[in-house]
Amino acid sequence: MEESARDWLERRAEGFLRKVGLAEGDTVLDFGCNEGNYAAPAARIVGKAGRVYALDKDTEALQEIAQASKQKGLHNIRCLQVPEDGDIPLPCCSVDAVLLYDVLHRGYFPEHARRMKALRSICRVLKGRGMLSFYPTHLKKYGMTFDKALSEVEAVCFTSREESRRRLVHDGRLTRGRVFSYRKRGTCGQER
Ligand SMILES: C[S@@+](CC[C@H](N)C(=O)[O-])C[C@H]1O[C@@H](n2cnc3c(N)ncnc32)[C@H](O)[C@@H]1O
Repeated sequence: MEESARDWLERRAEGFLRKVGLAEGDTVLDFGCNEGNYAAPAARIVGKAGRVYALDKDTEALQEIAQASKQKGLHNIRCLQVPEDGDIPLPCCSVDAVLLYDVLHRGYFPEHARRMKALRSICRVLKGRGMLSFYPTHLKKYGMTFDKALSEVEAVCFTSREESRRRLVHDGRLTRGRVFSYRKRGTCGQER
């Protein structure tokens, strides 16, 4: 990872995630967390009263997070390993916010049906009016467009799109990207 990216993660990532909408006490799901670049600052924001579920299909990445969070004293991170097409192992309407950064593209989800399944699963675990923060990447490489990627999200259960152009870390580098915030449409009648 480049030094500037490491520095941003240490000093700026919390500010970035607060602007995205994370707050103390939230339950957050980092879907496709990899080594936890965003899970760790999210855990600092939500604090003792909150929780971050770091979800990935990759066992090694999750082992890394588990070890690093122990060292950093971030006891509010829970690692969730899922099989590639597995549902999210969390109850319905249990999460305030989902981070979906650099995951939902054709590299990992080649078929439209699989992307929709993942989005429906995210929708299921979000509370009513819960927030999805979406950072679509690698679109051109796989013959996608922003419009197409966003229309897939909006076809599921998300509304009130807001876009911001932000500095953030992607693939070990500091870059500027288009980050989209959505709200879950309606409730599922099982709010906690
Ligand atoms: C490029 S990394 C992005 C990591 C992190 N979100 C970030 O922005 O720094 C994508 C991660 O998504 C995970 N992933 C891909 N497909 C997945 C799936 N179906 N279920 C869970 N995790 C998946 C990969 O294992 C990888 O760790």
